[in-house]
Amino acid sequence: MQQSAQSITIALSKGRILKETLPLFAAAGIEPLEDVYTSRKLIFETTQPNVHFIVIRAVDVPTYVEYGVADLGVSGKDVLMEHGAEEMYELLDLNIARCKLMTAKIKDQVLPQGRLKVATKYINVAKKYFAAQGRQVELIKLYGGMELAPIMHLADAIVDIVDTGNTLTANGLEQDEFIADISSRLIASRLALKMKDEKIQPIVEMLSAAVEKKAKSA
Ligand code: ATP
Ligand code: PRP
Repeated sequence: MQQSAQSITIALSKGRILKETLPLFAAAGIEPLEDVYTSRKLIFETTQPNVHFIVIRAVDVPTYVEYGVADLGVSGKDVLMEHGAEEMYELLDLNIARCKLMTAKIKDQVLPQGRLKVATKYINVAKKYFAAQGRQVELIKLYGGMELAPIMHLADAIVDIVDTGNTLTANGLEQDEFIADISSRLIASRLALKMKDEKIQPIVEMLSAAVEKKAKSA
């Protein structure tokens, strides 16, 4: 697909964010013309002729926006914190996929003194968090199922998303230290804000109204 000055490309995270994202865009008058859940396509036309969705892995959204290939994107704050936010701006807190980024450990276990072993997929976030406290850690990169690491003695602690806490409890772990509140954000590339601001602003306003309306009806 050729990027054009006339069109807006919006990168959406597939997975759990998507089902909360689509109703917000629908309320803003932007709906995909095909079922994004069943289609094998990655690019979708929408009810607005000059607006397209691309539906990609959550972790890839900031990359498409950073390079200006997508004008807008929807991304978890955790993913943005981990990626770093150069060349892009957070325009709106969509108030969806709310959760917390926490450290966790085996229930009632006292963590060892000295250098902690911490398993996470959020290596950059963890590095920054522990460095700010002057704590020495060895970080072990995992891609999912972090809760397994302390049980299998791969690590003393993990840094991961906690929502209900059910996954921790089911695996004999408990939350320990709070790192950040997380929700999904609308992000824009610096380039798009410079070149397409008059097209982006109405979308942001409609989405903002949809977020407010949802909050009021909750
Ligand atoms: P992939 O499936 O591509 O590996 P992922 O596992 O990171 O990606 P999801 O599980 O769909 O993707 O999570 C996407 C985003 O949703 C996360 O980056 C985070 O912002 C948020 N999130 C993750 N887990 C939860 C949860 N249990 N409750 C609420 N929000 C969550
Ligand atoms: C996420 C996160 C936790 C779980 C937390 O996992 O990594 O494991 O949700 O939610 P809870 O506190 O409500 O139990 P996800 O389901 O995305 O699987 P993943 O580990 O493969 O990322």
